[in-house]
Amino acid sequence: MKALVLAGGSGTRLRPITHTSAKQLVPVANKPVLFYGLEAIAEAGIQELGIVVGDTHAEIEAAVGDGSAFGLQVTYLRQDRPLGLAHAVLIARDYLGDDDFVMYLGDNFIVGGITEIVGEFAGSRPDAQIMLTRVGDPSQFGVAELGPDGAVVRLEEKPKRPKSDLALVGVYLFTPAVHEAVAELKPSWRGELEITDAVQWLVDHGRKVESTVITGYWKDTGNVTDMLEVNRLVLESMTPGVAGECSGSELIGRVVVEPGARIERSRVVGPAIIGAGAHVSDSYVGPFTSIGADCRLSDSEIEYSIVLPRASISGVGRIEASLIGHDVEVTPAPNTPRAHRLVLGDHSKVQISS
Ligand code: TTP
Repeated sequence: MKALVLAGGSGTRLRPITHTSAKQLVPVANKPVLFYGLEAIAEAGIQELGIVVGDTHAEIEAAVGDGSAFGLQVTYLRQDRPLGLAHAVLIARDYLGDDDFVMYLGDNFIVGGITEIVGEFAGSRPDAQIMLTRVGDPSQFGVAELGPDGAVVRLEEKPKRPKSDLALVGVYLFTPAVHEAVAELKPSWRGELEITDAVQWLVDHGRKVESTVITGYWKDTGNVTDMLEVNRLVLESMTPGVAGECSGSELIGRVVVEPGARIERSRVVGPAIIGAGAHVSDSYVGPFTSIGADCRLSDSEIEYSIVLPRASISGVGRIEASLIGHDVEVTPAPNTPRAHRLVLGDHSKVQISS
């Protein structure tokens, strides 16, 4: 059995972060979201992994390397344009050969791993097995309609009138039968080869498609709100530990201070993580915050946020529910005139409270 991880795509919902970096490398508790998926694949006993990469291939390749750090043998598969999840399967055809495989969306986060479902699939080998979870707003997802016996009857991508509240989780298991389906697909109205259409093709051609409804936590981290939520969840279960230096400071609750970090005259209320080489002084870091490596935080307050490496925040009152990119500088404006001074990249989003 092989694994196919999708780490290309356009990442429009996470702009401007994705103008310069891969969304699969946005850190959750200071570790790229993609790494949680790679660990789950290795834990399920899979060794051979193909990673589909797009424009951000260099960054993904630099982060994952040959995969040996995860116990995986990685082959990179270049997708020229993000033409859809099923297009990723199409370009991986030669790599996958006649093997069964698990397809895993590189920006998805699943608590509890995939070991159980991979074992279940290997035991019964339906042509495809999909994972579903109940959601409050199905129209945002791929939605499955099940028959009375639980068999998959219909799949629809982001339906206006959803037939159920069962959304597709970003993990699919396939036998090589999926290649027949993918070869027959035509682009959808959004110009993509849809994996939901491939699974629907299997259903329509009498192939066996099973589903498992998971009760564990799952999130697609494609937007900021979900990213912050996953970060909160991971921080809540971290083992606290201080490997950096703290002076004149108070650390409360579940706090991780990575090696080489310095905290001075500050208060950190966990769960929170302060990255390697970061310097926090005269500041407040509140719950559910990840401060990346080599960040500078002085005379500032922040909570429920993710700050990427090397950003600097100084003299700024409370920042909340924010995702701050690499090397960003946040500083106060001069007192007069009372004005906001902004240098924002394309597609930035700013909320000003005054
Ligand atoms: P999506 O989040 O569905 O698509 P996207 O990355 O284009 O994002 P947005 O909607 O914000 O523009 O993709 C799910 C995962 O699959 C993600 O890790 C990117 C990856 N992907 C590919 O590798 N190739 C593709 O052609 C597509 C569409 C996605």
